[in-house]
Amino acid sequence: MKKILTYGTFDLLHIGHINILKRAKAIGDYLIVGVSTDQFNAIKGKKSVYSYEDRKQIVEAIKYVDLVIPENNWEQKIDDIKKYGIDIFVMGDDWRGKFDYLKEYCEVVYLPRTSNISTTEVKIDIKNNK
Ligand code: CTP
Repeated sequence: MKKILTYGTFDLLHIGHINILKRAKAIGDYLIVGVSTDQFNAIKGKKSVYSYEDRKQIVEAIKYVDLVIPENNWEQKIDDIKKYGIDIFVMGDDWRGKFDYLKEYCEVVYLPRTSNISTTEVKIDIKNNK
């Protein structure tokens, strides 16, 4: 069984999120998603509309997702890869190269982002009544 791991905020769920989760699941058998906690978002200078608990439940309800775990910090990835026996680490290609250091522990794959959408853009569009 091939196990896949990815991370993200997944606030205001949009088609880019679904596309990457669908593609991530398709390259393996079991998909684990690390959802950033509200505390970790604060460290990154981000604030989500939905709370961690709600984002967790929303991501858990997606049919491609087998397990949601909290993402508490930048450093936990190696531990998570070992703990869950991860074969492939997947991220969108906006992160290309940033996680190459994990290649020591598993395969690292960057998938193309869906164009023209992000949570940030959705927030701006709503603010501007677009
Ligand atoms: N993602 C994607 N295509 C998009 C937006 C996001 O493939 N159009 C991917 C990211 O590359 C990441 C995952 O979805 O692997 C979670 O991204 P997240 O940061 O939660 O979403 P964004 O919409 O990019 O959020 P923000 O605008 O707050 O950065």
